[in-house]
Amino acid sequence: MSKYQQVLNDLQASPKTWLVTGVAGFIGSNLLETLLSNNQKVVGLDNFATGHQYNIDQVKAIITPEQWQKFTFIEGDIRDLKTCVKACTDVDYVLHQAALGSVPRSIEDPITTNENNISGYLNMLVAAKDCNVKRFVYAASSSTYGDHPNLPKVEDIIGSPLSPYAVTKLVNELYAEVFEKTYGFKSIGLRYFNIFGQRQDPEGAYAAVIPKWVSAILKSEPVYINGDGETSRDFCYIKNVMQINILAATADNEDAANQVYNVALNHRTTLNELFYFIQEKLMARVPELKATQPVYRDFRAGDVRHSQADISKAKKLLGYEPTHVIDEGLEEAMDWYVKDLT
Ligand SMILES: NC(=O)c1ccc[n+]([C@@H]2O[C@H](COP(=O)([O-])OP(=O)(O)OC[C@H]3O[C@@H](n4cnc5c(N)ncnc54)[C@H](O)[C@@H]3O)[C@@H](O)[C@H]2O)c1
Repeated sequence: MSKYQQVLNDLQASPKTWLVTGVAGFIGSNLLETLLSNNQKVVGLDNFATGHQYNIDQVKAIITPEQWQKFTFIEGDIRDLKTCVKACTDVDYVLHQAALGSVPRSIEDPITTNENNISGYLNMLVAAKDCNVKRFVYAASSSTYGDHPNLPKVEDIIGSPLSPYAVTKLVNELYAEVFEKTYGFKSIGLRYFNIFGQRQDPEGAYAAVIPKWVSAILKSEPVYINGDGETSRDFCYIKNVMQINILAATADNEDAANQVYNVALNHRTTLNELFYFIQEKLMARVPELKATQPVYRDFRAGDVRHSQADISKAKKLLGYEPTHVIDEGLEEAMDWYVKDLT
C-alpha cells in the first residue's frame, strides 16, 4: 500500500479538522473534495476574489450529505487578522492556498498582489501559530527559481525573482523560515509548478494556459502562444497536488518540517507539444472540431524560459509518489472540461 493510501486510511479512522484557505478556487476546491470525501472536517475561507461559489457547489454535488455536514464556510479575507484567527481556531492542519496568482496580474498591480500574498499570508502564519495548529502547509511557487538556469530545479538553488508575484512567494518562504527560528513554528512550503485539472478557471485575462487553450479550442477561437512555443513547463496534475498536501500536513518525521518541496513530475513539456496534445484529446471527444495552428506572438515579460523540477526531496522526506503523469492528467482533465464547458 502506498504511503498516501496508508495516511488516508489513518485519517478516515481518526478524522481531523482542516482549514483550507482559497477554498472556492481551483486547488482549494479540489482539497475540499478530497478531504470531505475522506470524511474529514473542513473549514473553508475565501473572499471570492478569483474563486467561485460554483466550485464549492460542484463539490457538494459530488459528496454525500453526511460528508457535506462536516464543512463550514467563512466568507472572509486573509488581509483581516481576526478572520484568520477565527478560521484557525480548533483546527489541526492548515492548507493555505489563498493568494492572487498570475505573473502578469502582479506586474499590472503589484500593490494588490503584495497585500494579498504577503500581508495576508503573514496574518495566516501568525493566526496559525497563535492557535497552535499542528502544521501550516502553504502554496509556494516554482516562480521562486527566477532567473537561475539550472535544470532540473533543486530546492536549495534559486535565482533572483522575475516578477512581483515571484517576490511575494519568496517572501512567504522567508517568513516561514523566520517563524521557525524565532517562534519554533514549523511549516511546509509546496512549490507548485504548473498545476492543472478540474475546476481550473478558463476565464479572465489571467487564466492559466491549459484551461485558456481548452476553452479557445472548444469555441474555435485562436490559441495564442507567447514566444516560439519552445518554452517548457513541468505540468503537474491536480491529484498529485492533493497527495502532497495531505502527506505534508501529516508528516511526522522531524526532518520533513520547516522545508520547501517541489511539486511536479520532473518532466518537461513544451508549449508546442502541449497545444497538440490538447487539440488531439479534444478532437477525440468533440468530432466536429477542426485542427488548427496556434498563433505565435511576443514572449511575455516575467516568464521563465524552462521549468522542470527535481522531486527527489519530496519522494524521500514525504513519501510523495505522483500517480498521474501529464498524459493521464490531461485525459481526466479533458473529460471534465468537455463536460463542463460544452
Ligand atoms: N495553479 C498553479 O499552477 C499554481 C502554481 C504555483 C502556485 N500556485 C499557488 O497556489 C495557490 C492556489 O492557486 P489556484 O490556482 O487554486 O488559484 P485560484 O485563483 O483558483 O484560487 C485562489 C483562491 O484564493 C482566494 N483568495 C485570494 N485572495 C484572497 C484573500 N485575500 N482572502 C481570502 N481568499 C482569497 C480566491 O478567491 C480563490 O478562490 C495560490 O497561492 C497560488 O499562488 C498555483
